[in-house]
Amino acid sequence: MNADLIIYNIGQLVTGKEIPLKDGESPMENIEILENGYIVISGNEIMEVGQGEVPSKLIKFTTKLVDAEGCVVTPGLIDSHTHLVHGGSRENEFLDKIQGVPYLEILEKGGGILSSVRATRELSEEELLDKAKKSLRKMLSFGVTTVESKSGYGLDNETELKQLKVNERLNHEQEIEVVSTFMGAHALPEEYKNKREEYLEKIVDLLPIIKERNLAEFFDVFCEEGVFSNEESRRLYSEAKKYGFKLRIHADEIVNTKGAELAVEFEMNSADHLMAISDEGIEALKNSKTIANLLPGTSFSLGKAYAPARKMIESGVQVALSTDYNPGSCPTENLQLIMQIAALKLKMKPKEIFKAVTINAAKSIGREKRIGSIEEGKKADFVVFDAKNIEYILYHFGVSHTKKVFKNGCLVYK
Ligand code: NIG
Ligand code: FE
Repeated sequence: MNADLIIYNIGQLVTGKEIPLKDGESPMENIEILENGYIVISGNEIMEVGQGEVPSKLIKFTTKLVDAEGCVVTPGLIDSHTHLVHGGSRENEFLDKIQGVPYLEILEKGGGILSSVRATRELSEEELLDKAKKSLRKMLSFGVTTVESKSGYGLDNETELKQLKVNERLNHEQEIEVVSTFMGAHALPEEYKNKREEYLEKIVDLLPIIKERNLAEFFDVFCEEGVFSNEESRRLYSEAKKYGFKLRIHADEIVNTKGAELAVEFEMNSADHLMAISDEGIEALKNSKTIANLLPGTSFSLGKAYAPARKMIESGVQVALSTDYNPGSCPTENLQLIMQIAALKLKMKPKEIFKAVTINAAKSIGREKRIGSIEEGKKADFVVFDAKNIEYILYHFGVSHTKKVFKNGCLVYK
């Protein structure tokens, strides 16, 4: 193997590799950070990681050398929960929202998710694709190299498939890898208002079609009071499991409906939101492989309580952090802002935050063998930050600290 690219003089190299815990550290601070590091890349893969001088035998005539100038380098960030593909925006509800009209009340009146459904149905595949590409370009500027993207603003076969088709095309038409999730169970569509049972059956009927066309890897349900009950969610997950979908869930966001417990029962990759999680839910998660995916931008934007991140982490729950980018409850593509909110509001520590958006986020989308850390044999996805230490990236909030982004060994943003 030849070294095509070497990044050297890295002040802090957050490899994201999980290492034994040191005394006094929380169960989520076990990631490796190398001082004065270098990364050697061959093709689209990481060939070697080291510290100090780069061994001269590695440097060939054709090797490109990049001086990181003492800056921080981390694995490419992973946004493991987004509603990327949608039409329109909802600033018309903003005033109501900041004056305290509850999220579920706006939804009950046909606004909220249902208003984005109308806007999404109106756009063509091409228009949705262009809008999503613009958002992905912004995400890339924040150092994001992989994004999970859900359907769920269609709620009819045609539009759900259109959203998923956009996910598929995005993988061929821009740099960020998109992981596709079918979320037909995002809300009950208006036209099924008095026909819940029929709508549930419709979702079940769509599962084999999506599987056959390979349009989604994950299945997700908004398990919430007034949306889909624990019992209904359980039925849907049983069906999705039969077809081989991997599972994730919107759980215990506003009201506790034992969503975390359901996630563990079904061995889901990810239980997301968890602002209203119970002690029993935490207990269940801590003894499982399910990642608790926290979305503090949503609490910030909705003016809601934050998930009890410290309690979860101290109990041994493994946490990821994502934007939840969507037109209603969290209209931002800025994962660095979410990391900064996690520090300020969830009281998460710097190492925990970087673990949450790298290797734990990779686990939540089932990609931990391929991405999420800078280790030999993994894909060469990484970010060079304009910062000398990871604390600075979180402390200096509201701006992007990205200097350069590499995806599969190629410079894709500077
Ligand atoms: O994750 N909670 C449900 N779904 C999204 C919000 C979608 C919307 O309001 O449009 C969320 O917060
Ligand atoms: Fe969401």
